[in-house]
Amino acid sequence: MLFDSHAHLDARKFDNDRDDVIRRAKESGVSYIMNPGADFESSVKSVELASKYDMIYAAVGVHPHDAKTMDDMILQLLKGLTKKPKVMAVGEIGLDFHYDYSPRDIQRKCFREQIGLAKEVNLPIIVHDRKANNEVMSILREEKAFDVGVLMHCYSGSAELASQYVHKGAYISIAGPVTFKSARKTVEVVKTVPLDYLMIETDSPYLTPHPYRGKRNESSYVKYVAEKIAEIKEISLEEVIEKTTENAKRYFKIK
Ligand code: NI
Repeated sequence: MLFDSHAHLDARKFDNDRDDVIRRAKESGVSYIMNPGADFESSVKSVELASKYDMIYAAVGVHPHDAKTMDDMILQLLKGLTKKPKVMAVGEIGLDFHYDYSPRDIQRKCFREQIGLAKEVNLPIIVHDRKANNEVMSILREEKAFDVGVLMHCYSGSAELASQYVHKGAYISIAGPVTFKSARKTVEVVKTVPLDYLMIETDSPYLTPHPYRGKRNESSYVKYVAEKIAEIKEISLEEVIEKTTENAKRYFKIK
C-alpha cells in the first residue's frame, strides 16, 4: 500500500488518459494519492477528483508561482473549499525564488495568508520551497505553522535544515530526483531523517524518477522513490512502504 503524498492529477497533461493513470497507480500498489491545488481553479478540480476517486484526497491552495492571482475573494473561496469532503490540507503554498513567476513580496503575503487560513480551519499545510530555504523557515516560525503541521514537499534543502524541520515535528517528502545520479544532497537527507518523518511522492506530471526520466510522471512511479530510500537506508522496501504510508495517513488524518 503506497501513498503518493503529492501528485497533480488535475493537470491538463492527464486529460486524455486520467482514468488509465489512476488504474495503473492502483495496479502498482498505490492506495492513496494526495492531490494539492496550485491555484483556485486547480483546487476546485482537486476537490472534484477526490469526490470521484476513492483513493484520491485533496489539498487546496495557491502555489507561489500563482501568488499574483491571490486576493481576498480567492482566500474566502479557498476557505469554502476546505469544508468539502476529503480536503485534508492547505497546499501547495510557499516560496519559489528560483523561477520568481510572482513578485517576491506577493509570494510572501500569499504564503502568510494561507498559513493563517490553515490555522483558522485547523488543517496541516503542504509547503513548496525552492531557493528560499531560510525565508520559508522564518515565515513558518513567525506564523506558528508548526502548530497545525508542516510537510516539506519535494524537499531539496540540506540535511542540516531537514534535521531542524524534524526537530519541530515537520515531515519531509522525497520525490523522483533522489533517483538521479546527481542526488548526493538528497541522499544525505534520506540518511539523516528518521523513517518516521519521511513521505514519498511523485509530484506528477513533473520530476519523473529514473528509469523514466524525461517522460511524463505518474503516481505508479512512486515505487521507484520507495526503492531508492530502502537502498539508501539499507532497510527493506516493505518497511519503507509501510512507514511512509502510515506517516502520510497520520499527517493527513486519513482513517
Ligand atoms: Ni507540486
